[in-house]
Amino acid sequence: MNLLGVVGGTGMDTLPDFSGSEQAPIETPYGAPTQAPVVGQIAGQPLVFLHRHGQVNPTPPHLVNYRANVHALAQVGVTHLIGVNAVGGIGLPMHPGALVIPDQIIDYTWGREHTFEAGNSGQIQYIDFAHPYDQGLRQQLIETARELALEHVDHGTYGATQGPRLETAAEIRRMQRDGCNLVGMTGMPEAALAMEAGIAYASVCMVVNAASGMDDRPLSLDTIVEILQRESGVVGTLIAALAHR
Ligand code: HPA
Repeated sequence: MNLLGVVGGTGMDTLPDFSGSEQAPIETPYGAPTQAPVVGQIAGQPLVFLHRHGQVNPTPPHLVNYRANVHALAQVGVTHLIGVNAVGGIGLPMHPGALVIPDQIIDYTWGREHTFEAGNSGQIQYIDFAHPYDQGLRQQLIETARELALEHVDHGTYGATQGPRLETAAEIRRMQRDGCNLVGMTGMPEAALAMEAGIAYASVCMVVNAASGMDDRPLSLDTIVEILQRESGVVGTLIAALAHR
């Protein structure tokens, strides 16, 4: 692995044991990233961290400048990128508290700037997105989780919704029929943009709630926060060990 980057999601302002300093504000041809990438070290290994929503005045999922974020990470030399996502679980075994390394995506988002392809290079880039996540990086995450004896699910289909509202119960039933196991608002277009930029990309999902209609309990913010706190520590341990490989 040349240079590992992490895009932290909701509940992950930084990584445990990570220290670094923000690069000078970076401009990209696509505008400003949510924050300048923070270049530093985790457990003695180089790592770049970027908060997807930003710590102050968080940017909602549909307004995140995914192109600027991915471009800024590429500019500082990131070659391998882990997107950390808080998600809802659709059925078993995606119960609240589960850690999942998904292998597929269905994209339900709309109206987002979703490609670097502007049709001005003389040749259109049609990325092969059959396997949206980098298989090698996924495998390394799975092996690391196994070595650390971290409970995890090693596959699953991530359904990316537009947000910021949560889904209706009928929308979730439709997603389940489509084959989705997870629902989140930020997995796309990040994964496709990383592939276009030539960055190996994988996702680690923390299930923080049962998706709408999947259980009769109302959403509890306290439970979500509690799971996020616990799981982001676990994800930090996983990433520190991954950086050591
Ligand atoms: N739906 C969409 N995004 C989410 C959810 C959900 O239930 N939980 C966390 N992010």
